[in-house]
Amino acid sequence: MSAVEGVPLLVEIGEPTGVTISPDLWGLFIEDLNDALDGGLNAELVRNGDFEFSPADHDGWGPLTGWRRESSGTVEIRTEDPVHPVNGTYARLTGPVALTNEGFDGVGVEVGDRLRLTFASWAVSGHTVAGPRGEVRCAVTQPDGAELASAVVRPAAGGWTWNEVDLVARTMGRGELRLEVPDGLTVEIDVVSLRPVGADGAALTFRPDLLAALVDLHPAFIRFPGGCVAHGLGLGNMYHWKPSIGPRHEREQTFNLWGYHQSRQIGYLEYFELCEATGATPLPVVAAGVCCQNLRGRAAAIPEEDIPAYVADVLDLVEFANGGPETTWGARRAELGHPEPFGMRYLGLGNEDEITDDLRSRYAAVSDAVAAAHPEIAIIGTVGPQPFGEDFERGWDFARERGIAMVDEHAYRTPRWFHQNVERYDAYSRAESGVYFGEYAARTNRVRSALAEAAFMIAMERNADVVRLASYAPLLARVGHTQWTPDLVYFDAERVLPSASYFVQQAFAAQCGVDVRRVTVAGAEPVPVVLPTAGSVRLRSPGASLTFSGIVLDGEPAPVARTSPEGEVVVVGAIAPSSAEITFEALRTSGTEGFMVELGPEADTGESYLEAVLGGWQNKATMIQRWDDGISNDVHGPTGWSGVPTGEPVRVRIVLDGPRVQVWVDGELRHDHVQDLRPEHRVVAGAASRVVRDETSGVETLEHVVRVVNATDEQRATRIALPGDVGATVGTLTLLAGAGPDEGEAFEASPVNPVVSEVRGTGGIDVVLPPWSFAVAVLR
Ligand code: AHR
Repeated sequence: MSAVEGVPLLVEIGEPTGVTISPDLWGLFIEDLNDALDGGLNAELVRNGDFEFSPADHDGWGPLTGWRRESSGTVEIRTEDPVHPVNGTYARLTGPVALTNEGFDGVGVEVGDRLRLTFASWAVSGHTVAGPRGEVRCAVTQPDGAELASAVVRPAAGGWTWNEVDLVARTMGRGELRLEVPDGLTVEIDVVSLRPVGADGAALTFRPDLLAALVDLHPAFIRFPGGCVAHGLGLGNMYHWKPSIGPRHEREQTFNLWGYHQSRQIGYLEYFELCEATGATPLPVVAAGVCCQNLRGRAAAIPEEDIPAYVADVLDLVEFANGGPETTWGARRAELGHPEPFGMRYLGLGNEDEITDDLRSRYAAVSDAVAAAHPEIAIIGTVGPQPFGEDFERGWDFARERGIAMVDEHAYRTPRWFHQNVERYDAYSRAESGVYFGEYAARTNRVRSALAEAAFMIAMERNADVVRLASYAPLLARVGHTQWTPDLVYFDAERVLPSASYFVQQAFAAQCGVDVRRVTVAGAEPVPVVLPTAGSVRLRSPGASLTFSGIVLDGEPAPVARTSPEGEVVVVGAIAPSSAEITFEALRTSGTEGFMVELGPEADTGESYLEAVLGGWQNKATMIQRWDDGISNDVHGPTGWSGVPTGEPVRVRIVLDGPRVQVWVDGELRHDHVQDLRPEHRVVAGAASRVVRDETSGVETLEHVVRVVNATDEQRATRIALPGDVGATVGTLTLLAGAGPDEGEAFEASPVNPVVSEVRGTGGIDVVLPPWSFAVAVLR
């Protein structure tokens, strides 16, 4: 009989398994996505300070995006004699005129805050006039015109000159940077920057509260620049490291494939500095010579004749990170203010690429050269965007052929997938490449997702001889400027909002054992996954209008159905439990997207159902999705497709037979999938021990780091029993608990926060694990 209320759970820690957890295991993934860099980690407060925004970044954007003109004078966008050829656009202001920058939701200041304003200027006329008539007034102003901080700059003539002045806040508040040119003065400006000044008197590179949030994650490594941004959309958009270093105005800017602008103000040097500031090892990911395949016409590859130069660039990157001052790129690093090397040990080559011959040959060229010149660098290969499928298999075959050190597996899957797959790596060969689980998330910011990630992370630690590195993705997202959810940390101009998943990541990285221990769990059984018991067939088409005719459902004709871009769900008819056959013709009458066919229980029952997506990914692919707990996963596909045309019918047949679902389009079998009915492991425990040395006394103590996930509705009266005759046990317990599984949303702070308490017991401890909780006990 347990001393505390709850379903009894016994977690017994056993002997070491022989597996050692690398101190590099838990790291971060940073990509310029969701305004993670400009408007985020980058401390810069001016938006589009280089006047380089263009319609290529985003429809309707241009050099004056982010800026507002006031007064009767003129603002002319010019390109002759720019400050630098790669920073080709600037503004000529003829007073009386003021140009105000909206920044990233304004500029917030406290009294005494110092902001460093720098910009390039070239006075054209009027600058020799004495007094304010020849000066640019620079201020942070509120909408009513009140100035929070101000200074004046007298621009010089004869060429581009650099101005620097500090604005010190006299009043607290939120305003905007305003540059005011008086009547009679004409001046050209570019590369406008406003950054908070730190305690050491230097302008800040990183926004301090976001940097602190990253430091608190105790990252062992940081991956950069992505993700898709690493290989880019088209060859011109591929991320090359050299144009991302040096003075800001000499850096090549480009469109961001996530629909905005990449200034690369946080370029490779700042990235390495970020690693240094957070205590992390760099893990740059460079393109494997091919760019993103999510373009019609597939991935472009660097032409054969340019491969040697590309290989040389990658070698130079290693030298820039690690080379001594006697090397060309080590010297360049020193010249940029960082003589010490950054200690890079990992290099990712490729991201989610289609595994083609183009990729194989370019991968081989780069990796052979890096391996020969820098055997100390572990190279990480790519195995496609999904934790299964054709590119996954081909990527793994290629890794086996080449003996690649590690491959980068990605899994944006439902919580159910993570709970079903906690045994995934138990089955991996120990003789093959290791795994970098480089991008993963359980698809929402709910507690359910965070705990599913925790359960899988326990399994990754248990298999640390296979999984060497892991990073959740994406990391940062600015509220209101987000292309991808879920994310680990949300923020706006004033707040940092860590998610429940953030605290899970933190709990793993902050307390990590070394020697994995055998763990047995008694008192919790895996949760069976069953097929739906009833349901219907439904149609919807957000983004298009369609007419569905000739519908035959289980041998019976059904009336013509119509869907519209509003996305309402149109029920075709009821189906027997997990068995149905439907055929129809779909005719798109307007819109640009495809449509979905839902099969099974209706969404509001909370039960699982299937969805055939015909024209997903902007009408470029078909796939089968499965919805579990209101969260969807691609379970088959996406498979590239020409898309639903307007005015030409598409013939569809779908057969559901128990766990198997098949989808034909125009007579072609596009999907044949058998649903995964393995049970979910919802109560998962793991442990690893470590020896801690007291520096003063020299005494060494054995500690056990024990983790338990309870992703169930039951409270668990839990006994954690340590191995051997340990007697009195003391330690700390970090508990993440107190919210239901569906609490927690994107753009909000976590509904659960870690609570740390002291624990004691004999031969282990007795603790109550609330429903939907995660506990980390450090016991000695
Ligand atoms: O993390 C967001 C994106 O997900 C990454 O850019 C890409 O690698 C993956 O598809």
